[in-house]
Amino acid sequence: PPGTAIGDEGALVIGGCPVTDLAERFGTPALIIDEAAVRARARRYADGLAARWANSRVAFASKAFPCTAVYRLLAEEGLSIDVAGGGELALALAGGVDPARIVVHGNAKTDAELRMAVEAGVGLIVVDNFDDIDRLERLVTKEQPVLVRVTPGIRPDTHAAVATGQEGSKFGLGPAEARRAVARLRGSSRLRLDGVHVHIGSQILDTEPFARAVEAVAGLGTFAVYDLGGGLGARYTYDDHPPSVEEYLDALVGAARRVLPPEAQIIVEPGRSMVAEAGVTLYRVATVKPGEPPFVAVDGGMADNLEVALYGQRFEATVATRVGGGDPCHLVGRHCESGDTLSAGVPLRAPRPGDLIAVPVTGAYCYSLGNNYNGALRPPVVFCRDGEAREVVRRETYGDLLRRDVT
Ligand code: LLP
Repeated sequence: PPGTAIGDEGALVIGGCPVTDLAERFGTPALIIDEAAVRARARRYADGLAARWANSRVAFASKAFPCTAVYRLLAEEGLSIDVAGGGELALALAGGVDPARIVVHGNAKTDAELRMAVEAGVGLIVVDNFDDIDRLERLVTKEQPVLVRVTPGIRPDTHAAVATGQEGSKFGLGPAEARRAVARLRGSSRLRLDGVHVHIGSQILDTEPFARAVEAVAGLGTFAVYDLGGGLGARYTYDDHPPSVEEYLDALVGAARRVLPPEAQIIVEPGRSMVAEAGVTLYRVATVKPGEPPFVAVDGGMADNLEVALYGQRFEATVATRVGGGDPCHLVGRHCESGDTLSAGVPLRAPRPGDLIAVPVTGAYCYSLGNNYNGALRPPVVFCRDGEAREVVRRETYGDLLRRDVT
């Protein structure tokens, strides 16, 4: 499946580590990350963008995978980091990210979060509304660089829940309002308007809407910085054919060359496409219930992967020791609702209780949307590289479930 390799014995190997060893050592469910794949993707983005537009940077949209090990790794690769609030900001700082390289987002930032961002000395705060401007003007102690988020009126072909660029979106300001915000910020002595930001949505499988978004921000005037957001889709199934990073950058920078000032800085903010394909979740089969098709139920599900329940995302899956082929099965989780499916009708080869199941392309948003439904313990995150595995987030314990209860 996308993002994995098959070893000599016909079992999956991730980052040089046989999944059978990983399951034995770390248990299941477990989120396994191919560290080299994340690093390679970060370089493809950073080098690819720099080759096309010299004054540029890549900011990882950390909501896709906000754990300190990921922040540290991507900061090491020289990336900037996008945070969506105080929690992600705290994690980024704990992960050693240079505050000057942090971009702060949010459509409903609190005073406390803005104060935290200003005090940390973050590089950019993206203003989403006029209240952000009011608050920041009150809070800042020295000049704070900001961007204005524009909603360009573009509706990419993706799930409604992750489309953000359309008219009537709760995010950002429409072009007319954005112009007002720009005018106001240009007159501000405490806030320094560096430029504009646009993000039209997520899991976008076509380059054309990205190019249109660039044209839309260009229409707002000449700025030092244009943050063009994220949104490139990942390849979840064999049927998905997202543009490559290079095709995406070609379209984006192609449009930028036509309409943006050549000396301006371009920022892109990939989240999903940076990490999705580097992740594989390992589960163990608890039971196989005969039927047409049979239900293969595993020891995890919608507590560690909400993508199916929330967005109807499709995933491939395989018996990790007998990769490929087999008969259609409903791969389901252990949680108390019928929506708790991991992959409907996926071919699995002779699945039996105790078998290891691998669900690939779980590196984005599965960790961040992870939850404790039914008292589920959130799985560990394991980085694999050159045959070495290290746990970077441990599995939760029942003690963790009790930790916040005031008794
Ligand atoms: N920049 C901004 C301002 C964003 O809001 C987002 C994602 C990104 C960048 C990164 O977009 P990406 O490259 O990952 O598509 N929870 C949903 C995804 C929501 C994405 C929200 N914003 C999911 O699990 O599919």
